[in-house]
Parts: sequence; C-alpha cells; structure tokens
Amino acid sequence: MPADPPRLSPATTAVTAGRPEHVPDAPLNVSLTMASTYVAGGDLEYGRYANPTWTAFEDVLGALEGGRCLSFASGLAAVAAVFDLVGQGAKVVAPHHAYHGSISQLADLESRGRLTTELVDLADTDAMVKACDGAALVWLESPTNPSLEIADIPTITAAAHEAGAYVAVDNTFATPLLQRPLEDGVDVVVHSATKYLAGHSDVLMGAIVTGDDELFRVLKGRRDLVGAIPGTLEAWLATRGLRTLHLRVERAQANAQELVPRLADHPAIGEVRYPGFGGIVSIVLAEGALAADLLTHKTKIWVHATSLGGVESTFERRRRWRSEPATIPEGLVRMSVGIEDVEDLWTDLHTALDDLH
Ligand SMILES: Cc1ncc(COP(=O)(O)O)c(C=O)c1O
Repeated sequence: MPADPPRLSPATTAVTAGRPEHVPDAPLNVSLTMASTYVAGGDLEYGRYANPTWTAFEDVLGALEGGRCLSFASGLAAVAAVFDLVGQGAKVVAPHHAYHGSISQLADLESRGRLTTELVDLADTDAMVKACDGAALVWLESPTNPSLEIADIPTITAAAHEAGAYVAVDNTFATPLLQRPLEDGVDVVVHSATKYLAGHSDVLMGAIVTGDDELFRVLKGRRDLVGAIPGTLEAWLATRGLRTLHLRVERAQANAQELVPRLADHPAIGEVRYPGFGGIVSIVLAEGALAADLLTHKTKIWVHATSLGGVESTFERRRRWRSEPATIPEGLVRMSVGIEDVEDLWTDLHTALDDLH
C-alpha cells in the first residue's frame, strides 16, 4: 500500500487547498460562478444547493479544521443551523458571556418554546460539566466575545458526550490556526467567516465544519431548505482572505502580545484581559464608560467600529450595545489588533490614553 501523503502544515494548506487542478491553462484561482441554475443531470442542479465558488472556500476551511465544511450567509446563519439540530423542548447549555447574537438567538428560541437554555460560566469547568446532564447540545465559544474566557474543551466535550449531547464550538476568535476543536472530539465547529477568515472587513459570511457525515448531511439539508447560502462574490473574497490567514493571524497575535504589557502598565487602564493567544484584547478603563467612549473617539489609526479580525485595528466599548449583558463592565473596550506596525498602533493608543488621564 502506498504511504499516506505527509500532512501539510496549515500555512501550506491555506495557500494550496481548493485550487483548480494543475493542468495547462487552468486558472490558479477558482472563478466566480454566477449561476442560479445549472444544466440538469449533474451534481449541482440549482444555485441554492451548490456553487463551485463556495466549494473552494469550503475545501480550504475544511482542510484547516480537519472536517467537511458548509458555508453560510453569515456567522449567525451558521449558528442558527446548529441550534436547529436539537429537538423540540431540548436543553442547550451555553456560556453566559458568549457573543450576544448567539445568546439572543437562544433567548428568542426559548421565548417561543422551541428549546430551553442553561447559561453557565464557561471558565468554571465543574459547572459546565454538571450542566451537561440532560442537555442535547453544549454550545461553546472559546475565547468568548468579549470577556475572553477560555473553555476546557476536552473535559466539557467528554462530559457532554457522556450525557448524549452534541458539542459545538464557535472558533471565530481562535481560528483553526490556534485551535482545532474537532481534534478534541467536538462535533461541530462554527465560524463567523466575516472576521479573521475573510479578514478584510468587506464580507459577511459564516461556516460550519464537522467530521460527522450524518451531521453534515442534516446541516446541508437545513441549508438547502432555508437558503442561508453565501453570495458568490462573498465566497470568492473569503477564499482570497484564507490564502493569507496564517500571516495575518501571526502578525495580529504578535502585535497583541507586544501591546498587552504596555496597556497593563498604563494608569488609565484598570484591567487587561488577554488569553495569551490571538489578536483580540479587552481592556477595562479605570474611569469607566465615559473614558472608554472618549478613547474610542480620540485615535487616528484605531477605528471605532464593531466587528473584528480585519487587517485594520478596530475597537469599541461593548456595553454601547443594549443586548450585551450587565456582567460585562461598562468601561470594557474590545480591541481587535490589526496587522499595522505595532509602534504606530501604540503611539496612537497611548497618545489617546495619556489625554484621558
Ligand atoms: C464569536 C462570534 N460568533 C458569531 C458572530 C456572528 O457572525 P456574523 O456577524 O458573521 O453573523 C460574531 C459576530 O460578531 C462573533 O463575534
């Protein structure tokens, strides 16, 4: 038997997966297939079921996460497909500080009697394990948005499986370069591809990756039925983004690691939250909400904007959103560190911070 080909490193996979075959005159990149329908008799049939431009994106992300990928219209469309896996009245366990859009979806489903939820402190592994009892789905997000709590994914996954529950991880913040939950036994990985995967603040898209063929079939069936599909241009742009994911994540992380100790030393900042990896840092301004709002309006390079994971550094005070829970400090600013020069980023920040003090 021929030996398996050596597994490629993620950097090589990001660049090489999902390309057309190397034959003379083939383009190096998959084309934009603008099609609502296809000539009958093949595998594609109709534009809500399949598109070769989506497939390129799905091949790259699937290879990076180690499973089969389905692209969606947005991160929240992907989240909705996963919540829809559970039966009527089933229990879903989720972190009380996860992305507020995901938690709002759960609250909406619960208010309509579709399911019940138990929100738990994600960092309290014992509490998470206990909550798995009777659950149909354990929803994890690690690190969490915006408090940057970390889950013990292997321990919680083992407890969830023992209880007969599926485990899903929102891997948006870590990306498959820093965390590969399927290797810990997780059933489904979810992404807001809007963030690091696409990476240039010009696309809304989502994705699900699973190693379970039956789950893949069910989730693909849901996507076909509700039509939560990405636009072709979005899929093309997101694939273009994936080609440089490793470089962008590496640089954003290096910049974040350089900024964290400097931020911690600044007297205007009461607390710095950073899990030690990735490009997202949350700071809590010592003087609270007003200081946080002032900071986000004083910088020239850092852009006051929601979202994250783009090449450019952005930040915002999270409690400006009414749906963000009251347990998130009023003065917390979530910073998405970009790939600019770190000294320029710091000069811009500390000039604004010095001005507050
Ligand atoms: C962790 C996380 N998951 C999911 C989403 C939702 O993604 P989208 O905005 O692409 O629907 C977001 C958006 O901010 C997010 O931060």
